[in-house]
Amino acid sequence: MEKKQQIYEGKAKKVYATDDPALLIVSYKDDATAFNGLKKGTIVGKGVINNRMSNALMCLLEQRGVPTHYVREIGERDTVVKKVTIVPLEVIVRNISAGSFAKRYGTEEGIVFDSPTVEFSYKNDALGDPLINAYHAVALKLATREEIETIKTYAFRINEILKEFWLSCGVTLVDFKLEFGRLLDGTIVLADEISPDTCRLWDTATGKKLDKDRFRRDLGGVEDAYQEIMGRLEAGLGR
Ligand code: TMP
Repeated sequence: MEKKQQIYEGKAKKVYATDDPALLIVSYKDDATAFNGLKKGTIVGKGVINNRMSNALMCLLEQRGVPTHYVREIGERDTVVKKVTIVPLEVIVRNISAGSFAKRYGTEEGIVFDSPTVEFSYKNDALGDPLINAYHAVALKLATREEIETIKTYAFRINEILKEFWLSCGVTLVDFKLEFGRLLDGTIVLADEISPDTCRLWDTATGKKLDKDRFRRDLGGVEDAYQEIMGRLEAGLGR
């Protein structure tokens, strides 16, 4: 399958049409941004790692009954996916306090929750992706009540699957962001990516951050951390 015209360029990926109107090709870049694009940089090799990691994790989720947009990997940065219309909500699941949760509520990072939380942000760069509740999302016609229930059910199931998988790799899944889309027939599937850009992943033994927080917070060793987490994933998959 070949790339036809580019139909979208985001902060970390480009999206191309294909000969099949139901399929797209996503191409992962090494570009990194943070704080709604205010901070810009490059993480060498990130595109290759995020492509492979996201595909491996989506395969795992499919095997466990969660529908995703993943079709097949066709290059080290390129993947065929099902065409969806993205539900403009960032779905954030948290197991441990960190990031904006810790800041908003004035807690330290690292507090383990008794049960996971879910929250939504309205995907809107001009507004800075504000936090939104389910009623407001329905009022704005971003999704129906039924779609939001489906999304929450999938989000918690994905958390259970990924938490267990990462634990087997010696990695603690702190929190992560998901995006869902609608297939042409309206079916809700997991879309976008699951990668160190979109998850907080801490080495279980040392607490070392193995994710994009190294870039966001200028912690150094960014590329090494991406390589390290990819190695853990491959070991966990027995590759
Ligand atoms: P937060 O604590 O900054 O709200 O981030 C929660 C999770 O969502 C974290 O794993 C990083 C991820 N995330 C994204 O994938 N994209 C974003 O734009 C932001 C702000 C966070």
